[in-house]
Amino acid sequence: MAAGRPGAALLLQLLLQAGAVSRAAAPRVPPEACGQRPLLDSILGSRIVGGQNAPIGAWPWSVSLQVHQTGKQFAHICGGVLVNENSVLTAAHCVTGRKDPHSWRAVLGMHNLWEHGKHIEKRNIASITVHPEFKKETFENDLALFELHPAVRYSDYIQPICLPPAQLHPPLDNHTECLISGWGRTAEKGKISAVLKEAQVEIIPTRVCNSSAAYGGLVTPNMICAGSWSGGIDTCQGDSGGPLACYHPSTNRYYLLGIASFGFGCARPKFPGIYVRLSPYRRWIESELLLSKAAAGPRSVTLTIPLTVLCAVLAQAF
Ligand SMILES: *[C@@H]1O[C@H](CO)[C@@H](O)[C@H](O)[C@H]1NC(C)=O
Ligand SMILES: *[C@@H]1O[C@H](CO)[C@@H](O)[C@H](O)[C@H]1NC(C)=O
Repeated sequence: MAAGRPGAALLLQLLLQAGAVSRAAAPRVPPEACGQRPLLDSILGSRIVGGQNAPIGAWPWSVSLQVHQTGKQFAHICGGVLVNENSVLTAAHCVTGRKDPHSWRAVLGMHNLWEHGKHIEKRNIASITVHPEFKKETFENDLALFELHPAVRYSDYIQPICLPPAQLHPPLDNHTECLISGWGRTAEKGKISAVLKEAQVEIIPTRVCNSSAAYGGLVTPNMICAGSWSGGIDTCQGDSGGPLACYHPSTNRYYLLGIASFGFGCARPKFPGIYVRLSPYRRWIESELLLSKAAAGPRSVTLTIPLTVLCAVLAQAF
């Protein structure tokens, strides 16, 4: 980012660390470029199950989280969403029974699972943090954070999505275009998809989705239902952890509203996909991101050594 100006970058980093708590108070404008797609300057008129192949670079925050398999190489398990240089959000249930970070890797900037182009980046996982209140029976708090090592450099193919701020003006309402994307199964009993798929979804009111005709009380206020009430459009197995990304026209950015969590079958009528609603978790996510930034600190040479330099700079300034 500010690689050409180490002094300024260092100062900024130290100030951020010092002011870490106050900075967590939701900035109005996203602190860095996020939610933008360098290769696609505007939302496609286009409209997984019921989706289509995503154009190259359409979802630069989409990550494939893969586990090393004995005998085989790596297998795609879940989707994930890049939220900063070294953090990927995903669903906690993806990690059940696979908590060892060393068995995982993250692949970023990818379009085709089987044909890795030259824009992809593979990363080891330094740590996995599962939400402490995750309940695997009810999918409550189905969130986890993967720390990448080393951090990635953003490109046309790799970008972070914006986290939903406390308030967005105008708010994201039901006229917003929201899309899902993933490499998951393209039919309930089908195979996973080689190419990243995308589909536009409707946000379905919780009242409707939680009714006895549908999920009958399984939907909590921390969940969002999205898909199509008549069926046909949905995330499916292998899409878990992937983004429900909504376009905010006045800032021209995409915001992460949800993380694919569960569903009854795939694309069945009256059983849309259920997503972790991210807004109630903003605090948890932000504090985890700060912790992982702090943990990454000692590993980076820039932070530890030149403290004295900074003191000298400050001394000159006053
Ligand atoms: C969605 O839009 C419809 C039609 O404009 C409106 O009646 C409804 O109240 C809106 N729902 C929400 C949740 O904003
Ligand atoms: C869904 O229904 C259950 C059972 O009636 C209720 O406990 C829960 O609060 C409802 N969810 C929402 C978001 O209202």
